[in-house]
Amino acid sequence: MSGPFHLLKHDHRIIERALKALDGACLRLETGDQIPAPDLSKMIDFISTFADSYHHGKEEIILFPVLVRAGIQYQGGPLGAMEREHQIERRLMGNLRTAVEEYDQGDAGAGARFIEAARAYTHMMVGHLEREDSVLFPIAEALLNEDEKRALIAEFKKADHTFGVARITELESAAIKLENDWAF
Ligand SMILES: [Fe+2]
Ligand SMILES: [Fe+2]
Repeated sequence: MSGPFHLLKHDHRIIERALKALDGACLRLETGDQIPAPDLSKMIDFISTFADSYHHGKEEIILFPVLVRAGIQYQGGPLGAMEREHQIERRLMGNLRTAVEEYDQGDAGAGARFIEAARAYTHMMVGHLEREDSVLFPIAEALLNEDEKRALIAEFKKADHTFGVARITELESAAIKLENDWAF
C-alpha cells in the first residue's frame, strides 16, 4: 500500500496539471487571444475544489494535528508556515475569481489582472508544493511510526469517502483535460 505522503504527493502532481493549464491560458491572453470566461472559470473551480477544499483540507484537518501530536511545533515551525501559505493561496484564488468575473463582464483590464493573479498564485503554489514534498513530508515520514502512518492513511480514505470518491476521480480527469486543452 502507498504511504500517506505518497498519497499527498499524488495530489500535488494533479494540482501541477492545473497550474500548467493556467500558465497556458496566461500565455494565450498575453498574446491577445480571447478565452471564453467559462474556460477560465473551470480552472479556478478545479483549484478551489481540488487544491483548496480537498487537498489543503486533508492537510489542515488530518495531517497537521497528527504532526502536532507527534511533536512538530505549530507556531514558528513548518506547520504554521504551511497553513499561512494556504491562507495566502486562498486570497490569491479570490483575486483570480474576481478577475474572471470582471473579464466576463467585458472589463478591458481584467485579462491583465487575471494574468497577474494567476502568476502570483502559481508562484506561491509551486514553492508550497516543493516545500511540502522536500521538507515537511520527509520530516513527517521520519517522525511517524508505521502504526501512525497506517492510521493517517485510514483517515485520508475516510476523508475521500466524505468528499466523494467518484468526485475525486472526476476532478483528476478534469485536471488531465485542462492540461491537455491549455498547457503548452
Ligand atoms: Fe499544503
Ligand atoms: Fe500539499
